[in-house]
Amino acid sequence: MTYSLSSPILCHSPRITIIGAGRVGSTLAQRIAEKNLADVVLLDIVEGMPQGLALDLMEARGIELYNRLIIGTNNYADTSGSNVVVITAGIPRKPGMSRDDLLLTNAKIVVDAAKNAIAHSPDAVLIVVTNPLDVMTYLAWQATDLPRGRIMGMAAVLDSARFQTFIAMELGISPADINAMVLGTHGDLMVPLPRYSTVNGIPITELLDASTIERLVQRTRNGGSEIVELMKTGGAFFAPASATCKMVESIILNESRLLPVAAYLQGEYGLEDVFVGVPCRLGCGGIESILELRLSDEETNALHACAEAVRKSIDKAQEILLLPGS
Ligand code: LAC
Repeated sequence: MTYSLSSPILCHSPRITIIGAGRVGSTLAQRIAEKNLADVVLLDIVEGMPQGLALDLMEARGIELYNRLIIGTNNYADTSGSNVVVITAGIPRKPGMSRDDLLLTNAKIVVDAAKNAIAHSPDAVLIVVTNPLDVMTYLAWQATDLPRGRIMGMAAVLDSARFQTFIAMELGISPADINAMVLGTHGDLMVPLPRYSTVNGIPITELLDASTIERLVQRTRNGGSEIVELMKTGGAFFAPASATCKMVESIILNESRLLPVAAYLQGEYGLEDVFVGVPCRLGCGGIESILELRLSDEETNALHACAEAVRKSIDKAQEILLLPGS
């Protein structure tokens, strides 16, 4: 016997849309679902693929014991009312390619995705994952005109996780005890900060010599390429999905985690009109504040060099987007 209440309470689960059902997008859907964070809408242009992945994830629910809905679609109307939208759509790198080599193709894909997604979810927080990350986030911001707190790029959480991993492996200590900090762009110029990276509060500069730290810094900078070179087809997706999920979680659960993300800067760190990875407090409103660390001259110069490189790529992307027929 079932009883219906005469005045049903309307429950709204939070909803997260993931655009691009490739390896990063589908792994992110799995992570979000398994944590029971929100219902997930997985959108892709390939017909049947997001629907198949969604059904597969739905069929794992009884075994893994999560109960959120996972919907696969090719239609932006199904993404309406999302709290968070994550854009992972775009082509990935092949061996020998830099993230900038993806500029042309991915710029159009990301601008289109951002416009469509925000048209259906005007209050959403937008997270861009597609490479070259810092440039794509800028183009998505321009295309949507979102307030700067509601748009960010994922990468520095991933780069910090890689630095954390390499420190943990070097010291033979659990990564749970390592806090690593990487700022800047998601590329060769990224700025790992050894003196702000600690083992349970102890700066790694107390535990490792300079040449060892330099080796770990270089491996971190090369972290994405190392995996592309090994895999040959496509790149990393487990850690990128985990890093994105950590950001989504802090937003959906209003956790106020302090995470390095690509944020639009308006004077912070002496930088203007550019997205660069800096430590931000993430809550239900998106980026709720930006923390300005005291940096040495060398660190500041490295961060400014990142911003300059991103700015050049933005100019190049904007030229491409304005070309007739593009
Ligand atoms: C990487 C890609 C996600 O760093 O840029 O693995």
